[in-house]
Amino acid sequence: MVFRILRIIETPLTRTEMESDIMEIRVEKIGQSRIQEVDFDNIPFGRVFADHCFIADYDNGEWTDLRIQPYGKMMFSPAMLALHYGQTIFEGMKAYRNDNGEVMMFRPMDNFARLNKSAERMCMPTIPESLMMDALKELIKLDKDWVPQRKDSSLYIRPFMFATDEFIGVKPSEKYRCVMFTCPVGPYYSTPLKVMVESHYTRAPKGGTGSAKNGGNYGGALYPAKLAQEKGYHQLLWTDAAEHKYIEESGTMNVMFQIGEKLVTPPTGDTILEGITRDSVLKLASSLGINVEERRISIDEIVEAHDNNLLLDAFGVGTAATIAQIELIGYNGRDLVLPPTQERKMSKLIAEQLTAIRYGEVEDKFDWMVSMN
Ligand code: COI
Repeated sequence: MVFRILRIIETPLTRTEMESDIMEIRVEKIGQSRIQEVDFDNIPFGRVFADHCFIADYDNGEWTDLRIQPYGKMMFSPAMLALHYGQTIFEGMKAYRNDNGEVMMFRPMDNFARLNKSAERMCMPTIPESLMMDALKELIKLDKDWVPQRKDSSLYIRPFMFATDEFIGVKPSEKYRCVMFTCPVGPYYSTPLKVMVESHYTRAPKGGTGSAKNGGNYGGALYPAKLAQEKGYHQLLWTDAAEHKYIEESGTMNVMFQIGEKLVTPPTGDTILEGITRDSVLKLASSLGINVEERRISIDEIVEAHDNNLLLDAFGVGTAATIAQIELIGYNGRDLVLPPTQERKMSKLIAEQLTAIRYGEVEDKFDWMVSMN
């Protein structure tokens, strides 16, 4: 079936008729915008929400009742399946305002594709990527004033899907809701990170859900992360579940290291999220002439590189985290201190280039940016 948005219907809110290959989105605009309440110079991450959100419900094998409405609370049954057995997935992506005032999205179709990959792993329905893109365009058209001007800020977009059957048997839900809201955000991490190598708890075993962006992956990581935080670290550096020997990813991001002149990062697979920022950094780094290696990295190799003064840079990469410097790695009772962040030429160059692409200051030779105007 081909989906496209035929027409945006403004209020009154009536159930739309759905033709065989055409979907309509109803739009109910907010009466009074809340934007005046926002201090755009001081935006906490993930606590300020723009005026509108997109909602679609899945029932009887199809996505129905597509609407954009004022952001607000939703009502659910206490027996809603997602609350019990974790059929819930999400994505995170960002929109930027460039110097011409144009709103640009970074690789949105890749995020929608990954949402569907997660959906398949979690036994949930996929949702047409073109439909999500059209919905996002409408959402951003309505809330374009919420896209921050400042270069350290952006509009974070959170699409997510969850099981809505009112039933407590363990089985895939028959009904789902897909929601997409947006929030202006500043930096996720405001200081360089101290990370601790996790050698006991496990984020994702082979054959598990580690490469999906499902809520449970994050929920299960909270307790080990809390233990590390009690020891003074910000985040964990996860190791493989089988041997706790090889580095996987960090709490909210993929990780990369500069060892000598090489940029190395663990390969993705079923235990590591296929980060879109990760992929972008690797492509960008290669294009800048940096020698990139995707391969397993043992924690012993990191310790040895550190002790030989070859561990020159370490950073996390993610949509929320952007490029987050790691200043210290705790392992086995030792704290490996990395070179001061101002000396890190490689990640600085990559971060500057990525920012320049996002804000339209250099040619977007990878075709990553999508105009929302
Ligand atoms: C993102 O980077 O967008 C993420 O989804 C990480 C999130 C857990 C904050």
